Amino acid sequence: MKVMKVRLKEKSYNIVVGNNIVRFFVDYLRKVNIGRHAIIVTTPVINRLWGKKLLGLLQRGGFNVRVEEVADTEKSKSTSTCLALLNRIANYGKSKKVFIIAFGGGVVGDLAGFAAAIYKRGVPYIQLPTTLISQVDSSIGGKVAIDLKVGKNLIGAFYQPRLVFSETTFLKTLPDKEIKNGFSEIIKYGIIKDKKFFKFLEDNVEKVLMLDKKVIQFVLERASQIKANVVQKDEFDKLSVRAILNYGHTIGHAIETASGYSKRYTHGMAISIGMIAANFISQRMGIISKSECSRIEDLLKRAGLPVRAKGIAPSKVYEAHLYDKKFTHGTNRFVLPVSIGRVKIVEGVSEALIKGAIQSVCRGGE
Ligand SMILES: NC(=O)c1ccc[n+]([C@@H]2O[C@H](COP(=O)([O-])OP(=O)(O)OC[C@H]3O[C@@H](n4cnc5c(N)ncnc54)[C@H](O)[C@@H]3O)[C@@H](O)[C@H]2O)c1
Ligand SMILES: [Zn+2]
Repeated sequence: MKVMKVRLKEKSYNIVVGNNIVRFFVDYLRKVNIGRHAIIVTTPVINRLWGKKLLGLLQRGGFNVRVEEVADTEKSKSTSTCLALLNRIANYGKSKKVFIIAFGGGVVGDLAGFAAAIYKRGVPYIQLPTTLISQVDSSIGGKVAIDLKVGKNLIGAFYQPRLVFSETTFLKTLPDKEIKNGFSEIIKYGIIKDKKFFKFLEDNVEKVLMLDKKVIQFVLERASQIKANVVQKDEFDKLSVRAILNYGHTIGHAIETASGYSKRYTHGMAISIGMIAANFISQRMGIISKSECSRIEDLLKRAGLPVRAKGIAPSKVYEAHLYDKKFTHGTNRFVLPVSIGRVKIVEGVSEALIKGAIQSVCRGGE
C-alpha cells in the first residue's frame, strides 16, 4: 500500500493506492473526520460487482449509508440526472450532515463530485475509483463536471475530494477495452514527465495488460504521483502547468467529436491517435526526433491502442478541433513532445501543419 499526498494547503488530501486495501477504507474515512452519513453514488454494474462488499464495510464501521444509482453511461453526466440526484440527496439528507462517496469510473466521479460541489454550496466527498482511467486520472485533481448538449464538461467546478482511495482489485472485473483506455493516459504521463517510467512501461506492457499485481501497483503509484505533482503546482489550470496533461487531447478530442462519441473510439483510443498527431507536428517543426516518435508509436501499438483513425473524415476532425476549449485567445495551443519525458507548449501552429497531421492519422478517412 502506498499513501501519497496532494499538497493544496488546507485542501490537501491523500491518495491511497494498493491491492486488497478496501478493508482499510473505513479507517481512512475516520481519519478525514468526514461525518457518519455516507451517500454512495454508483452505477448498477459497479454496485452489483462490488457494492455489497463496500456497504458491509461501511455499515460494520458504524456509518449510515444510502446508495444512489445512476445509469451506466456518459449520459449520466447530464443536467437532468444531476438534478434528480441532488433532489434525492436533499430528501435523504434534510437534517443530516452528509458526505458523498463517488464509487465508479470517471462518469460517476465527475457527476458525484460536481453534485458534492454544489449541494448546500459544498459537502465533502471521497473518490473511490473503479476504472483504470479514474484511478490514474479523473479522481485526482478536483476537476468535476457535467455535460451540456453542446459539449462535454461545460458545467463544472474545481472541487477537491477529501481522499482518493484506489483499490487495484476493482480492476479485475474491468473489460479489456477499459484497461487499454487507462493505459493510454498512463503512457501519456511517461511522455510528458518521466522517461524512466516510459522505459518501465516498454519493459512491462504485457504485465500491465494482465494486471500483474506488482506492476500495476507501481504504475498506479507513479501515474498518480505525476498527476498530483502537476495539479499541486496549478490547481486551477491557470499557469500552463496543468495544460501539459492535454498532450494528445487537442486532436484526440476532435476525433471523439468527429466520430460522434461512438463506442469505436474510447477516450484513450482517441488520445492515442491524438498523441501521434501531436508527434507529427512536433517532428515537422524539428522539435522531436523521428526515433523518439517511433518509440512512442511502438509502445502505443503494443498496448493494443490504435495509432490511426479509420472511417473518420479529416475535414470533420479539423472542424471539431476549432471548437476545442483549449483553443484560447484566438490561437491554437498544442502540447508537443521535445523528447520522451519532456513536452512544451506551442501556440499558433500553422493551419497547413495541423491539417497535415490530421490527414496523416486519418488515412483512409475521406
Ligand atoms: N475530471 C477529470 O479530470 C477527468 C479526467 C479524465 C476523464 N474524465 C471523465 O471521465 C469519464 C470517463 O471515465 P471512465 O473512462 O472511467 O468511464 P466510465 O465511468 O463510463 O466507466 C467505463 C465503464 O466501466 C464500467 N466499470 C467501472 N468500473 C468497473 C469495474 N471495476 N468492473 C467492471 N466494470 C466497471 C462502467 O460501468 C462503465 O460501463 C468521462 O466522462 C470523462 O470526461 C474526467
Ligand atoms: Zn484524457
